[in-house]
Formats: sequence, C-alpha cells, structure tokens
Amino acid sequence: MDKYRFTYQDIHRTVRDLADHIVAGGYETDVIVAIGSGGFIPARMLRTFINRPILAVGIAYYDQNNQPTDNPRKVQWIEEAERELRGKRILLVDEVDDSRVTLEYCVRELMSHHPASIAVAVLHNKLKEKRGAMPPAVSMYLSGLDIEDKWVCYPWDAKDIDEHDREATNSRSPSGDRD
Ligand code: G4P
Ligand code: MG
Repeated sequence: MDKYRFTYQDIHRTVRDLADHIVAGGYETDVIVAIGSGGFIPARMLRTFINRPILAVGIAYYDQNNQPTDNPRKVQWIEEAERELRGKRILLVDEVDDSRVTLEYCVRELMSHHPASIAVAVLHNKLKEKRGAMPPAVSMYLSGLDIEDKWVCYPWDAKDIDEHDREATNSRSPSGDRD
C-alpha cells in the first residue's frame, strides 16, 4: 500500500476514540484550537464529543512575498488571544503529526499567552524522525492512530468522494485490517 486513505466514517471513529482518551485521561478542555485547514473538520467532529468553543489558527511556510521558508509563521491567529487563552485549558487539534514543526511552533505561540495547560490531539501520527519536538509543557499528547511515514489521503481532499471511499475499502484486507 503506497498511501493511506481514510473515509469520513474512519475519521469520525478515530475522533470518538480520541475524545474517549482525552476524557479518560482526566483532561478538562476549556477551548479547542484547530490548526487550519486540516484540523478544522476533525475539531468540529471532536466538538460533538467535547462540546467546547473552537478557535481557528492558520500557520504557513511562505513569507510575505509568497516565497517558501523553513520557518512557519502565523497567517491567521486568535483575536484578543491573551483574553481568550490566559488561564484556559487548551485542546490543540490537527489532522496529522508529520514533521511536528507546525505543531511545536503552534504550541509555543499558544504558551506565550499563558494558558493553564495545553493538550495536543492529532488524528494520525507518522512514526518517523521528527524535526520538531513537543514542548515539555504539553500535558497530554494523543494520536488517534500511529501510522507509517506514507502520504495520507483525507476525504475532504477528494474530488470524487465515492471513488475515494471505494479505494479506501479496497485497500483493506477481508479481515478489515489495512494491508
Ligand atoms: P506538523 O507539525 O503537524 O507535523 O505539520 P508539518 O509542518 O510537518 O506539515 C506541513 C503540511 O503538510 C501541513 O499542511 C500538513 O497537514 C501536511 N501534511 C503532512 N503530511 C500529510 C499527509 O500525509 N497527507 C496530507 N493530506 N497532508 C499532509 P498545512 O500546510 O497545514 O496545510 P493544510 O493542508 O492543513 O491546509
Ligand atoms: Mg494541516
């Protein structure tokens, strides 16, 4: 199998499992922060299980002149962040932990607003050497699934969702496991 393909159903179940683990781990969320755009739909699904407000942030790897850079920067941030975040228990949500660079950057930026705590939840964590590191201040890190370092096709990127779902189903062995 060259790529992973997940359906909306798969992702809904993964989000439900994540929510169960967050609650079982005793983490009480005040506010969900979604990293766009990949974290938007997972964050909304998570809100079905952990009903808290969602704040959106956007991080990019290009500079003001649209040139690619090695360092992430904020292209969308939280209005009145200090007021929204100070003393709050944040749950940071993204779809995939790949290099971890965006996640690390985002956690550090959020920490500068003095939240009470930050927990990180991702749908999928690629098992690989990471360029970024999870700051020790992160009180809980959860991934829905640990996966190999392969490209993940998400349903929201599909032009033809039925074809995407067929391919996702076909790439599973009869036992239901992924090849
Ligand atoms: P990380 O800290 O979360 O590991 O993110 P990293 O900077 O390594 O990721 C750079 C971009 O690449 C992110 O998108 C991330 O979602 C995307 N990405 C990495 N691996 C995969 C994958 O296997 N499948 C898909 N579909 N995307 C992947 P971004 O710049 O935040 O854009 P967006 O797509 O979330 O809007
Ligand atoms: Mg993303």
